Amino acid sequence: MQHDRRRYRITGGRPLHGSVTVGGAKNAVTKQLVASLLTSEPSILTNVPRIVEVEIVLHMLAELGTKITWLDAKSLRVETPQITSPSLSELYSGVNRIPILMMGPLLHRVGESSIPLPGGCRIGKRPIDFHLAGLREMGAEVTEMPRSVTVKTLRLEGAHVTLPFPSVGATENILLAAVLARGTTVIHNAAVEPEVLDTIHFLQQMGALVSVEVDRTIIVEGVDRLHGTTHRPINDRIEAASFAAAAVATGGRVEVRGAQQEHLVTFLNHLRKLGGDFRVTEAGILFYRQRPLTAEHVETGVHPGFMTDWQQPLVVLLTQAQGSSVIHETIYEDRFGYTSQLNRMGANIALSTACLGGRECRFASKDFPHSAIVMGATLLCGGPLEIPDLRAGFAYILAALVAHGTSEISGTRYLERGYEDPVGKLRAIGADVETVPVSSDNT
Ligand code: EPU
Repeated sequence: MQHDRRRYRITGGRPLHGSVTVGGAKNAVTKQLVASLLTSEPSILTNVPRIVEVEIVLHMLAELGTKITWLDAKSLRVETPQITSPSLSELYSGVNRIPILMMGPLLHRVGESSIPLPGGCRIGKRPIDFHLAGLREMGAEVTEMPRSVTVKTLRLEGAHVTLPFPSVGATENILLAAVLARGTTVIHNAAVEPEVLDTIHFLQQMGALVSVEVDRTIIVEGVDRLHGTTHRPINDRIEAASFAAAAVATGGRVEVRGAQQEHLVTFLNHLRKLGGDFRVTEAGILFYRQRPLTAEHVETGVHPGFMTDWQQPLVVLLTQAQGSSVIHETIYEDRFGYTSQLNRMGANIALSTACLGGRECRFASKDFPHSAIVMGATLLCGGPLEIPDLRAGFAYILAALVAHGTSEISGTRYLERGYEDPVGKLRAIGADVETVPVSSDNT
């Protein structure tokens, strides 16, 4: 169990100005680190964000036999000449979603593996049934234990796998199993998020044969061996949208260097419709407020839809918009828990179990509070905030930045898992943020 290293004390009311640089995408880099296990040769990743989640994955890899060298501040060399242990310690049970992705590579390298059951943010049940069904279809013998999963096989075989929902993790899991399997694997209804495609690019550079069809079908022709490569992962589109929202919410003007328009198209449309605007620059995208903010209707969805991880900063923006906004969350059944603390700050957000806004999703009639109505504009007042999960964490930062008065934010360990130097970056654009070491804090 990790504890906070520090709390953040934020005094709101200052428009943010200046420029900030986003790092490599957490959800691409961590998967590519796992993919590096598919060969005994070294691979180099550049543009690696210095976030806690990367440190955790490196600890996991080291336990399996990976040799890790930082070549410079952002470049990492990983090499696993031999798998020294086919199992990952149960200490990692509940830590994140990465160990389950190691099953395919470990099956190829040593024919068996035992992996702790995943955790991740507190945003829904997040089962792994699609992952295990896919591996079983490819010939793995899967045994589920209360805290771990064991897999065994003589050789993984290509298969036709149809995902009930385009799950990012399950698509990646089957991909990592399929690239060295005997024969062809076809993944129907696959996820095609930019981070998944970036990991496909990494695998192709390693020698894999993967093609992506227009109808969400991914075809993988198994090869006999893969080799090491050098790759620069895409930039983090969630971090980019987070700082974009901060610029618009505070009425400032921030250039987000490294923001890539092609990965933000849906976000940019909604931002413009609610009153923000942007200009693509040589280094990234400049974000600012165009007019007083007005209500919007947004539905989260799989790519190229509006990402579920953009939903939380958007909700804070909508608390500052005139009118009644509706957000329908269709990826996770329970991703609005964080709004109760925003209401304590003065927001007016009501949750509903109905599919608000038109389209029915797979959570219809299931009693999950997966729609939100945000009435605005509301005046937020600073106060104590406890971060429940990574993406809610940035939403609370944003709420504190627009609020009157000072907020003291705990649970910062969640935020630091996925955001690189959030305090330094916020200060550089003029935010009034102090850190308070937890040990010297008597609350
Ligand atoms: N699902 C199942 N069974 C499965 C797998 C998924 O029912 O076996 C369901 C999930 O419960 C969820 C939906 O399918 O309702 C989508 O889940 P998905 O598998 O796509 O999510 P993930 O791979 O666990 C990744 C990111 C998330 C991001 C989602 C959606 C990583 C490490 N995590 O999660 O990122 O929200 O895709 O794009 O890549 C974050 O970075 O803060 C984060 C939560």
